Amino acid sequence: MSVTALLIQTGSDYDCEIGRTATWEDRMSGITVTPLQPSIGAEVSGVDLSRPLDAATRENLAQALAEHLSLVFHDQALTPDQYLAAAEAFGPPMRQHYSQHHMPGYSNIGLVYHRNGQRPAERWHTDHTNRERPPAATILYGVEIPSKGGETSVASMRAAYNELPEGERRRLDSMRTLNSLDTDNHDTREEDREKFSGPYIHPMVRRHPLHGSKAVFFHAGKAVIEGMDPDASRDYMADLIQRMIHPEIVYTHRWRKGDVLVIDDRATMHRAHGDYDRSESRVLWRIIVEGDRPVL
Ligand SMILES: [Fe+2]
Repeated sequence: MSVTALLIQTGSDYDCEIGRTATWEDRMSGITVTPLQPSIGAEVSGVDLSRPLDAATRENLAQALAEHLSLVFHDQALTPDQYLAAAEAFGPPMRQHYSQHHMPGYSNIGLVYHRNGQRPAERWHTDHTNRERPPAATILYGVEIPSKGGETSVASMRAAYNELPEGERRRLDSMRTLNSLDTDNHDTREEDREKFSGPYIHPMVRRHPLHGSKAVFFHAGKAVIEGMDPDASRDYMADLIQRMIHPEIVYTHRWRKGDVLVIDDRATMHRAHGDYDRSESRVLWRIIVEGDRPVL
C-alpha cells in the first residue's frame, strides 16, 4: 500500500507551496505526524525507536522527513546499538570526521558536548559537505540537557531558495562550490584531515531526491564558490545567509532529555545555541547517515 493511501487528513488542508500543514496519522503503523511550523518541523508520535522499525514505518518516516525537514521524537530511551538501528530508517550511518569526539567503541556516533576543545557550532551550516555523498540527515539524541538555553535551530533552505528573487535563483543555480574540511577546528586529527579534506565539487543549489524541490546548499566554513576569489566567496555566502534566513522559516528545538531530532541535511542549515550555563552539561549523541551525491 502506498504511503499516500495510508494518510488520513485530520486537520486543515494541504498547501502545495509549503507542504503538508495538517496532522496525519498512519493507521497501519500508529504513527502520527504533527507539523510544528508551516514551512519546517514536525513532531512524530507513536514510534518507539528502541524497537525494530518495519519497512512501512521506515518509508513513512523518510517521506515525513523529506516533507517537514526536521522531525522530533520525544521520550526515547536508547542504547547506542538501538540508536544506530533506528537511524538506518534515514540511511546508512557514516563515519564522522572528528574521530577525537567519537563515542568509545562506536565510530559512527559522535559526542556533542562542548568540552575538551569542542565549541558549539553557532553559525548556520549543513554537516559534512566535504564528502562525495554528504549526509542525508543529521540525527541528535538528547542525553544531558541544560536547564536553560542550548537549543538547536534548523532553517528551511527550500523555503529560503523559493523566497529569493528569480534573478538570484538563476545565478545560484549556475554556481558550484569546492568543499574541504574547515580549517578553524585546530584539534582535527591528521588522519582525518588526510582522509576527509576533499575537495569535492557540489552544486550551490541541489534538488531533493525524494521531494523534488530545490534548496540552497553550502557550508560557509568549508566551501569556496568555484571561480570566485575566496574573500568574495565568503562575503557572498555570509550575505546570502543574512538575507535568506528569518524566523518564519526556522524551527528552534528546545531540548528535553530523551528527544531525538532528525534534520534533513539536503534542504536545511542548522546551528547550535551556545547560550547556556557551561557549568551544566549538554550531551547529544550525533549520527549522520549517508545520502546521495548532490545534483541540481
Ligand atoms: Fe552541525
